[in-house]
Amino acid sequence: MAQKIIIDTDPGVDDTMAIFFALRSPELDVIGLTTIFGNVDTDLATTNALRLLEIAGRMDIPVAKGADHPLTGPFAGGVAFVHGDDGQGNVHLPPPAGRAVDQSAAAFIIEQVMAAPGEITLVPLGPLTNLALALRLEPRIAVNVRQVVLMGGNALCPGNATPAAEANIHNDPEAADVVLGAEWPVTMVGLDVTHRVNMTPAHLDRYDQSDDPLAQHISRIVPHYRAYFEQSYGIQGIYVHDSSAVACAIDPSLFTAQRWPVRVETQGISRGKTWPDNGERPLPPWQGRPLVSVCVGVDADRLLEMELNRLT
Ligand code: BDR
Ligand code: CA
Repeated sequence: MAQKIIIDTDPGVDDTMAIFFALRSPELDVIGLTTIFGNVDTDLATTNALRLLEIAGRMDIPVAKGADHPLTGPFAGGVAFVHGDDGQGNVHLPPPAGRAVDQSAAAFIIEQVMAAPGEITLVPLGPLTNLALALRLEPRIAVNVRQVVLMGGNALCPGNATPAAEANIHNDPEAADVVLGAEWPVTMVGLDVTHRVNMTPAHLDRYDQSDDPLAQHISRIVPHYRAYFEQSYGIQGIYVHDSSAVACAIDPSLFTAQRWPVRVETQGISRGKTWPDNGERPLPPWQGRPLVSVCVGVDADRLLEMELNRLT
């Protein structure tokens, strides 16, 4: 039976690729999209989620709008230079016909998880505010969820939002520390692995050449995103962030992981840095914290082929 997943997302070019990848994966049954600020604000993330489901012909999948600011302060603002003003590479899509359900993202997550104990995987691809709010409202979701497979964090490598922190965690470090400290099975798919999955120009050409409508949409929105990688990292092609978490939910054997307790720095210039304790015995700030599966290795070639074969 396909694994039921809820994708929590801030679309976002790579979120778009990840959502389409999940929709095209028979191992997964996407039962909802919940939205969050990050690449864009939550209103636009919600509009984009609805637009993407319409492009995919999957208006049967509900969209629930999430929090519009982090747990402890205002949203710092989107990253138009990465994903475009519209979060879709500045292609400016028409408004969606559908609308979000009358339920918050946190309430939707709680209702779905509690109705199907042990069945639902949460796949957050943005800041972790909705998951932290859901835990606060109904702590029993931790023991009723199947697993959480998140894109975010940097255990043993530098950040991308700052030298210290990865963007999703940096946007709400307090929420991330709650999520990484809850008693549910969490896999962290962070920059340690996503910066090793490079979708090259030759890979991206396959979207351009495909007549699949999902591939065609990706082909339209990727150029702006690709230019950001060239300017910021001097690479041709793109790092595969959000789709790596989807791939991990489909096939964890693509990754190697270490089991460590993880804390999130909430202060100072390292705000948003995820710190694993990889020593023999956890030190006080990590003591009593659950072990997180931190991905440290990836079979990038196999991952890329899986995604491209399903979307082109
Ligand atoms: C993460 O930040 C966002 O820009 C991407 O969508 C991804 O979720 C990578 O750090
Ligand atoms: Ca994202």
